[in-house]
Amino acid sequence: MFYLDNSATTWPKPDIVYTTMDSSFRQMFSPKRGTSRASRMGGAKLDEARQAIANLCHIPHPNQVFFTSGATHALNLAIQSFPWKAGDGVVMSAIEHHAVSRPIRKMAREKGIQFYIVPYTDELPFDLAAYEGLLKKHPNIRMVATTHASNVIGSILPIEAIGRLAHQYDSVYLVDAAQTAGVFPIDVQAQNIDILALPGHKSLYGPPGVGALYLNPSLQLNSFMEGGTGGDSGKHDMAFEVEVGTIPLPLILAFAEGVKWVQEKGIETIHAHEKALLEQLLSGLNQLSEVTIYGHQRPDEKTPVVSFTVRGYEPEILGAILFDDYGIALRSGYHCAPMAHEAIDTLGKGGTIRASIGYFTKAEDITALLSALKEVITQNCSVDTASVG
Ligand SMILES: Cc1ncc(COP(=O)(O)O)c(C=O)c1O
Repeated sequence: MFYLDNSATTWPKPDIVYTTMDSSFRQMFSPKRGTSRASRMGGAKLDEARQAIANLCHIPHPNQVFFTSGATHALNLAIQSFPWKAGDGVVMSAIEHHAVSRPIRKMAREKGIQFYIVPYTDELPFDLAAYEGLLKKHPNIRMVATTHASNVIGSILPIEAIGRLAHQYDSVYLVDAAQTAGVFPIDVQAQNIDILALPGHKSLYGPPGVGALYLNPSLQLNSFMEGGTGGDSGKHDMAFEVEVGTIPLPLILAFAEGVKWVQEKGIETIHAHEKALLEQLLSGLNQLSEVTIYGHQRPDEKTPVVSFTVRGYEPEILGAILFDDYGIALRSGYHCAPMAHEAIDTLGKGGTIRASIGYFTKAEDITALLSALKEVITQNCSVDTASVG
């Protein structure tokens, strides 16, 4: 298989991630649940895992890091437990994933909040004036929520500047770093981030089913999930807690090993490798006149993700052909982000095919995709000519 679907989930993972999952599952228990040495060892390892995430994102204290089942869980938790009042406002970008836009739309329906959308254009993907305009015009805005980079077209948003504006207008800033954690540096303090959602299974090379949430300690959120925490067990009611129930220790420890692996490799090294392959991919696709590439093509300002279509092919059908006949794994359709597809005018038209690069992607994977596309296009042209003839 030529694997080019790293934006969905990176594959393969570093060996240490697989071995940690196995060994911790066999040898450790989740902490605060038993008197055994295995449970105590689990507690110590959990503290180390929290510290690893804190180090990665410059989070001042590891107790501000909470483990979740993924970025979706982290985002829902933060958005749905925010203390909204009817009439409050929230701003989001026009390229959000469902994991941000759906909970916001739900809060609009159920809590009566208003949401405002900052439009996206290729020429001006970083339209700070639009954010400022909304914040100035609507003093009811209490949260700005944006992705760090689009999972469809890879465009990066200027989070530091957006966060500064949000704070200037007394809003909190939530960042969905699903597509950037491990690819671009994240610093919650320097980038003015109050709420940060991280997935374990993408560019932090952990397993699926785990992620993390950073919350600025000044935030007062409502309770989201109730249950056992292993502490305060004699009380009937509980205070706000993120980690409720028995935590998935093997997933968390494997995730932390992925994070440490990324830091040891170095985000700059990872990014340089991926950027070189991104350039190879863009240059090859640009030579195929039947291919349309969506979003801007400035490699320094995007993640290694390229959305494209091929004239005469439904993205879903082309995706199936490329896997079934050539073994190339991509993703077709709307990528859980119809807003982004609306922004690039592919909504209702089958979306795009997306190729996404990870640290384990090789030049051969890109070459395989480009030559398969050439072959498919040539065959299609010859079929067309034959039928015309
Ligand atoms: C931009 C973005 N946000 C959120 C998510 C959800 O992440 P998770 O799979 O960790 O729930 C994804 C996953 O595709 C994503 O690309």
